[in-house]
Amino acid sequence: MLAELDQLRAQAETDLAGVQSALELDTARVRFLGRQGALAQLGERMKSLAKEERPAAGKKLNEVRTAVTAAFESAAQRFAARAEAGALAGVDVTLPGTPVLPAGALHPLTQLQDRAVQIFRRMGFALADGPDVDDEFHCFDALNTPPDHPARNEQDTFYLPDGRLLRTHTSTVQIRTMETQPPPVRVISPGAAYRRDEVDATHLAQFNQMEGLVVDEGVTVADLKGTLEFFFRELFGAKTAVRFRPHFFPFTEPSFEVDLKSPALRGGERWLEICGCGMVDPAVFQRVNGSRGDQAYDAEKYTGYAFGFGLERLAMILLELPDIRLLIENDVRFLGQFR
Ligand code: PHE
Repeated sequence: MLAELDQLRAQAETDLAGVQSALELDTARVRFLGRQGALAQLGERMKSLAKEERPAAGKKLNEVRTAVTAAFESAAQRFAARAEAGALAGVDVTLPGTPVLPAGALHPLTQLQDRAVQIFRRMGFALADGPDVDDEFHCFDALNTPPDHPARNEQDTFYLPDGRLLRTHTSTVQIRTMETQPPPVRVISPGAAYRRDEVDATHLAQFNQMEGLVVDEGVTVADLKGTLEFFFRELFGAKTAVRFRPHFFPFTEPSFEVDLKSPALRGGERWLEICGCGMVDPAVFQRVNGSRGDQAYDAEKYTGYAFGFGLERLAMILLELPDIRLLIENDVRFLGQFR
């Protein structure tokens, strides 16, 4: 029995030192240390030994079990180390890893548009929409813009072969809104506008505007001024100064250009031209009634104001951008600053 135990120990130690795979290791474990393994079988046979032989055999059995278990553990450790080395073989840990891409974010222009929409919504404005491809009626005629107006020139506007055009401003939505709903109207409409401008640091051929239109009884220039002042102060800070300069647009009378300056902006002492606006010209109501076929926009009863400004220009001022093209180049080094 004692000799058998010594032999088993020697066998187990040799076998375990020589295992080549995790599977072999496990097989050896079962063979020597398992519940039906060699050690367990010898333990079972102890019961048939003479009483006086048992203590010595029991002691030996324990010694052998400890030794075989130790041999198994050192083999297992050797394997773990080897598996790690194997996983790393052929891998150059000094190479840069696969970067974890940061989550995306809304484009700064979209963020600004959302902010602007939020401010107007608080003042009760609803969102209106219209097509980017529109006709001359909605872009010019209905807006009281004469046939010889420079905006109609092929040099200034993208015309389609069928005579339609890419809208040169979002003021088309004024007309489309009034055509489909009677007063009162209180809408804003953000969207793309197109002009055949040479692309440079301050011009794009496709840009974005935000249009506004309010029509109701008793609407005055004071409402227009109050609304725009509130809006620009929300965007540029409470200390923002807003001034209205007389201007001309065919579809508003009187018309104004809005300038602002804000101490929150770099070069805060300069007036920046930001927005066109005015009181809706009764001639526009007349055109709208014409295409509606009713007198819903009765100029004796209703007055209104409209405004429009460029979102890119607003973004350039707010974000202090030196070049409008940054907004369309999709360079993540630029975009990543506005997350
Ligand atoms: N549509 C004008 C433009 O693009 C802006 C404007 C809108 C002016 C509404 C007055 C009223 O320049």
